[in-house]
Amino acid sequence: MLIENEALLHHWYVVTESADVSDEPVAVKVLGRDLVIWRSADGAVVAAPDRCPHREAPLSEGTVHDGCLVCPYHGWRFGDAGTCVEVPSSGIGKKVPPAAHLPTVNVQERFGLVWVCLGEPAADIPAMDAEDDEKYRRINSGVQVWNTSCTRMTDNFLDISHFPYVHIGTFGIAQNQDVPKIEMEQLDDDFFGYQYEVDVRNEDGAASSGLDDAVITRRMTTGFNLPFTVRSTIHYETGLDHLILLCSTPIDDVTSYFTFVIWRNDDFSVPGEDVIVFDRAIGAEDKVMLEKVKGVLPLDQRATVSVQSDKPSVEWRRRLAELLG
Ligand code: FES
Ligand code: FE
Repeated sequence: MLIENEALLHHWYVVTESADVSDEPVAVKVLGRDLVIWRSADGAVVAAPDRCPHREAPLSEGTVHDGCLVCPYHGWRFGDAGTCVEVPSSGIGKKVPPAAHLPTVNVQERFGLVWVCLGEPAADIPAMDAEDDEKYRRINSGVQVWNTSCTRMTDNFLDISHFPYVHIGTFGIAQNQDVPKIEMEQLDDDFFGYQYEVDVRNEDGAASSGLDDAVITRRMTTGFNLPFTVRSTIHYETGLDHLILLCSTPIDDVTSYFTFVIWRNDDFSVPGEDVIVFDRAIGAEDKVMLEKVKGVLPLDQRATVSVQSDKPSVEWRRRLAELLG
């Protein structure tokens, strides 16, 4: 099983959005592990195995009171950093057993997303310079569950040659089947990828591109950050940059969370939700296709046939296989 690979424990994965962690516990699953997430009194998000140390009740079925996670079974309360602060049956203010504290996992909020790392982090969350650039605004899109492997998602997000087939209902142009020769390069500290130009259909994309033409040229820069993050930047001739961070999280081998985050240096006049309607529709097309493809993408490159246009995915798969050992 892919998710049992030790190396995957040491990377960051998106499990939910910050906005969704407020006054209730949230149940999530990553690499087959059930986690509970809540916001404690100090404002920090806490993540821990979704198992009460007392009798293993799912803590995500409990409640949050004054920033404490309260187990639904016997009411043990867990405060900042998962510290057990109260065992009601022992009396208020009495000492609690040291093993009652929750074995929390690493959690960070970044880009409006909650990221967890189950082991010791081997790398940081990839940087997005636009996050701290006031010319850009960020638009979050919510977290979805896709019934496909995150290996297939990452492969897809690096792939150009499916545009005239899968994306014919949004930006794809049926005649544009040739993929120019791709050169891979280190894009910056965190992303390895490629640049290319593509003509796209713009009829439904005007709110996103800011242009009225039926067909427009996108200059694209797309790259990956291991294991499963892809960044795609669309540069328009008008100077508009539309950055998309595509995050895939293995819930298990064949189920994944998907979210995308947009940054763009527009005039902020079009509501964020209107801007991302087009990207949502594009994502929905990929989801329909990928959910028809069974299982994990084989990491052994000989198990599938690749051609020139698959170069980015082949390179990502080679590096992923190396990471997984
Ligand atoms: Fe959680 Fe008993 S199982 S308090
Ligand atoms: Fe696609």
